[in-house]
Amino acid sequence: MKYAHIVGWGSVLPDKVLTNDDLAELVDTSDEWIFRRTGIRQRHIAGPKETTTTLAFEAAARALVVAGIPPSQIEMIIVATSTQEHIFPSTASRVQDFLGATKAGAFDLGAACSGFVYALSMAAQAIATESVRNAIVIGAETMSRVLDWEDRGTCILFGDGAGAVVLQGSSIPGGVMASTLRSDGSGGEMLSLPAVYQNPVPMLGKESLHSRHKKNTITMNGRQVFRFATKVLSESVEDVLEKAGLSIDDVSLIVPHQANVRIIESAAKRLKISPDKFYMNLETASNTSAASIPIALCDAIKSNRLHPDDNVVFVGFGGGLTWGATVVKWDVTPPEISPLDRELKRARYIVARGRSRLKQIGRNIGARLGGSFAPDATLKDAEKGRKVK
Ligand code: UT7
Repeated sequence: MKYAHIVGWGSVLPDKVLTNDDLAELVDTSDEWIFRRTGIRQRHIAGPKETTTTLAFEAAARALVVAGIPPSQIEMIIVATSTQEHIFPSTASRVQDFLGATKAGAFDLGAACSGFVYALSMAAQAIATESVRNAIVIGAETMSRVLDWEDRGTCILFGDGAGAVVLQGSSIPGGVMASTLRSDGSGGEMLSLPAVYQNPVPMLGKESLHSRHKKNTITMNGRQVFRFATKVLSESVEDVLEKAGLSIDDVSLIVPHQANVRIIESAAKRLKISPDKFYMNLETASNTSAASIPIALCDAIKSNRLHPDDNVVFVGFGGGLTWGATVVKWDVTPPEISPLDRELKRARYIVARGRSRLKQIGRNIGARLGGSFAPDATLKDAEKGRKVK
């Protein structure tokens, strides 16, 4: 049995910032309304060349530098996201390729805003059962691409970004201590993002278009989600602490999904603790769905809010409905990394891209030269064989 310790972390937010005042030019809202009702002042928006994959890669690369582990030693990559560019290839597989993590399995995990907590729990269990030693868990989103920019009830809430942690197995007790994961599919309609399986099957015509949704943008019943969130946030913190055999007084910091300051404050009231025990960065980062917890974690570390031996709770909630929490015994001090070391480590990703490109070229040349491996070529060969007979 191994303990999964967090040994590296990294996050990235796109440079482009959209303020509440900017939004007030798009929809009927105001900085005053948004800030008072949510605590959000601005959000980051991905540029044309940024995607969920590039953000996920950047966060993972930064986390690996902190961990001091080469990508070749990573055996599992999980990307929690609702905004993958492709159903397949997965975002995680593309990140695996960009990193040159040649010994890693990779998959995306869909649990909406709870995705990071779910993914952390999955990776920690893979480490605990010793099926992998090192894993990267990433939360990455480009929410701006799935928002209805005419819906003031949703477009004011979300932003883009990515955060990642590196987990390493060790026989020293600590790291991820307990998790609780829950779902209630009966509330699925409260917060939803349809997929785009809209192609009609030719022989069935229009009948094969099952989806009632016209657009693949987020829809949300804000009030209902608000009520659900305040309830499950406090409940899952209590639940996970009970599993870990800890009390709320043993917890130094709670890093919640960054949805709304009012949700967090009302959960604090239910738990009878000060809201200061919750780390919040949504004023500047907004709600980045599955990315919000790891981004907030990185900011909390930068702000010196975590120290060795602290117990920290991550708690997420969102579409599905899904919710969950994890308790982590924090046991690392941020290492000193020189800018030169950082740059040298990054050079390996240029090599990884070169290797990947060469593999693709090699595959294409192979397909042209050794045509008999292609299915249609095999068929032609077989037909030729029949004629000869
Ligand atoms: O990460 C996924 C989880 N998502 C969440 O956690 C979101 C949970 N829900 C919320 O955070 C809040 O429900 C919102 C911030 C979305 C909305 O705040 P609210 O206090 O629940 O507002 P409301 O929906 O009850 O609307 C109050 C009023 C309405 O006007 P009337 O009917 O009272 O005249 C809305 O039309 O505010 C109006 N309104 C707005 N006004 C200005 C709704 N959105 C806006 C807006 N700007 N952006």
